[in-house]
Order: sequence, then C-alpha cells, then structure tokens
Amino acid sequence: MDKITLKDKTFRIMLPYEQISEAIDKVAEKLNADFAKSEEPPVLLCVLNGSIMYIAELMKRINFDCNIVSTKLTSYEGTSSTGKVRQALGLTADITGRDVIIVEDIVDTGHTIVALKQILADAGAKASYVCTLLLKPEAYKQDVKIDYTAMEIPNQFIVGFGLDYDELGRNYKDIYVLDE
Ligand code: IMP
Ligand code: MG
Repeated sequence: MDKITLKDKTFRIMLPYEQISEAIDKVAEKLNADFAKSEEPPVLLCVLNGSIMYIAELMKRINFDCNIVSTKLTSYEGTSSTGKVRQALGLTADITGRDVIIVEDIVDTGHTIVALKQILADAGAKASYVCTLLLKPEAYKQDVKIDYTAMEIPNQFIVGFGLDYDELGRNYKDIYVLDE
C-alpha cells in the first residue's frame, strides 16, 4: 500500500519493510558482538506499546541469553510530544544489578529516554544502553548517548511498525510519513 488513512490524516510510504529489516539485521549484529561475553544475561527492556514490533524482530536475530522486561511510558498526544513523560506501567521485573538494553521505537526530543535512564538508575540497574529503531537527529536535544540506532529520519511524524497516531497504525509492517 502506498497510502493509508488514519482518522483525519493521510500517510504515504517512507520505509518499506525490507529496508527496516536490513537495518535491524545490522543492529542485531552489533548487539551480538557487544553482548556475546556478558557474565549475566542482559535485560531487553520493551518500552510499550511502540517497541513491540521492533523488539520481536530484534529478538529473532539475537543469539546471546537475554531476559525481557517491559514498562510503559507515554508522552505523545496526537502528532507531537507534550514534553511530560508519564510511567503508565512500572518495570515488570526486578532489574537490580543488571545490564539493561532499552529497546525504543523512536527517539524524538529525547524526554522519554532521559526519563527511562533515570527510572533504571533508580531501580538499581548496573548499566543501561539505548537501542532505538529510529532517531530524529534534528529533534534530539539531550546529552544521553544513543548507543544503537537502526535508521535516522527527518523531523516528520511517522506511523507503522509499532508506531501510532492516537493508537492507530501500529499494525502496518512498513513505515509511513504524514502526507501534508
Ligand atoms: P521523545 O520523548 O520526544 O523522544 O518521544 C519518544 C516517544 O514519542 C516515542 O517512544 C514514541 O512513542 C513517540 N513518538 C515520537 N515521534 C513519533 C512519531 O513520529 N510517530 C509516532 N510516535 C512518535
Ligand atoms: Mg515509545
């Protein structure tokens, strides 16, 4: 499909699944090299809901022992960030002393990542790393290091592959950009 309509907005295709898949292959290769010799299995942190498709694809390509923990954060309303991050669901398991790989759908302003890093430090994580499918470099204004990025995109609003517009559009396997 070249175009999709969600509520009042139309989106056109930007990144086909094949391209997303190849970018994930490369991130997984790096993770496999970096975490192969971990003493304890790292935790993959699924940041609900946006990360579900990415973490599923990533996990299929990972060949070191790992655990999955989830949490849910919200900051977006419609097509822009409110700047206020709310933890809607706490960490689903104890991560004390663990290496945590934060698996995010997208890093935009970076408010969510900063809040997550703090949540993980407060919960006693040994270290945390950011592993995002997408990064909007023009919007990102924080000092936190983004350790793994599959793809960079312009500062535009996108949906699909887990990302939503008012909770719609997460189910599409390709990524679509707002068509204005
Ligand atoms: P940040 O806190 O501004 O970095 O925003 C991060 C969160 O906002 C992401 O985890 C997404 O859930 C959401 N978000 C940011 N940009 C987009 C977008 O273009 N489409 C859909 N959701 C987005
Ligand atoms: Mg998210």
